[in-house]
Amino acid sequence: MVKPVLKWAGGKRQLLDEIYARFPAEYEQYHEPFFGGGAVFFDLEPDDGTVNDTNPRLVNFYRVLRDHPDELVSRLRTFDDPDADPDPAQDFVDENWKGKDIGEYFYQQRARFNRRAYGDGEWPQTAHDRIEEAALLLYLNRTCYNGLYRENSNGGFNVPIGRYSDPDWVMADRVRAASRTLADTDIRNEDFEYILEAAQTGDLVYLDPPYQPMSATANFAEYSADGFGREDQQRLLETVTQLDNDGVSFILSNSGVMYELYDDAGFLVEKEGATRSINSDETARGEVDEIIATNVPEEERGAHGQASIADF
Ligand SMILES: C[S@@+](CC[C@H](N)C(=O)[O-])C[C@H]1O[C@@H](n2cnc3c(N)ncnc32)[C@H](O)[C@@H]1O
Repeated sequence: MVKPVLKWAGGKRQLLDEIYARFPAEYEQYHEPFFGGGAVFFDLEPDDGTVNDTNPRLVNFYRVLRDHPDELVSRLRTFDDPDADPDPAQDFVDENWKGKDIGEYFYQQRARFNRRAYGDGEWPQTAHDRIEEAALLLYLNRTCYNGLYRENSNGGFNVPIGRYSDPDWVMADRVRAASRTLADTDIRNEDFEYILEAAQTGDLVYLDPPYQPMSATANFAEYSADGFGREDQQRLLETVTQLDNDGVSFILSNSGVMYELYDDAGFLVEKEGATRSINSDETARGEVDEIIATNVPEEERGAHGQASIADF
């Protein structure tokens, strides 16, 4: 049982027991097409298989984590406290992308992160750049307000500085453990439909898409600049239907509004209550319905032994 390295919106640590309860007694490879913080994957520690996310910065992070953990840790150790003065030795930017003055090292790092090219196919260009990119992502994730990753519509990371008395952005042991867990995993940066070609009969797929909003105001779909709309939800239903036809086991979490869609399609669906701390606004936190849908029949499930929830 390894702890996730990044805190990510929609992290599934509260649902681990319910997800494991639906695991088939036996399966071949394990796949996660919507990886995010990978809470289930790291807890499970599968030997191989695939993980995937459309966010290119997140995927770069996990590839660097898997292939260059020591360089990542070394780079993180060169970073300063978030509330220190900006580093004059760095390629210095004294205002952020909105033209505001930068008073703290955190905002200097955020501006450096945001000035890098974003997902243009050529990025990131060199091994040096890739490690710097990954180190900045982890540093910002560990020192920003509420520890969440959020982008504005231009793909810029826009979370302000957090208030921590002693933030740890290096986490060498956790980085190395997560790196070992990913060693034989194929890390993809595609749309989730890659799974139709990647998953073979007997495999298990856990899918955790950006949730369809419960109401017009609760925008749970804002994970990256692209969003994930109703058409994507429909494509997702068609994808798991195809997996089912191919003899692949799937378990999928989603918001309560998707209950009927999966029920009507003939899958096993149950509602779960979960406290979501996705929003920094306290009033917007609270219970929302979630569903878990699966094609694994009850008689084919096996008690998964690792369902313990460690603190993040
Ligand atoms: C709910 S989060 C996953 C959270 C994860 N289970 C965890 O424990 O942290 C959904 C993820 O799907 C990714 N995503 C959005 N659209 C996608 C698509 N079309 N295909 C694959 N991944 C996508 C987002 O970037 C985001 O990281």
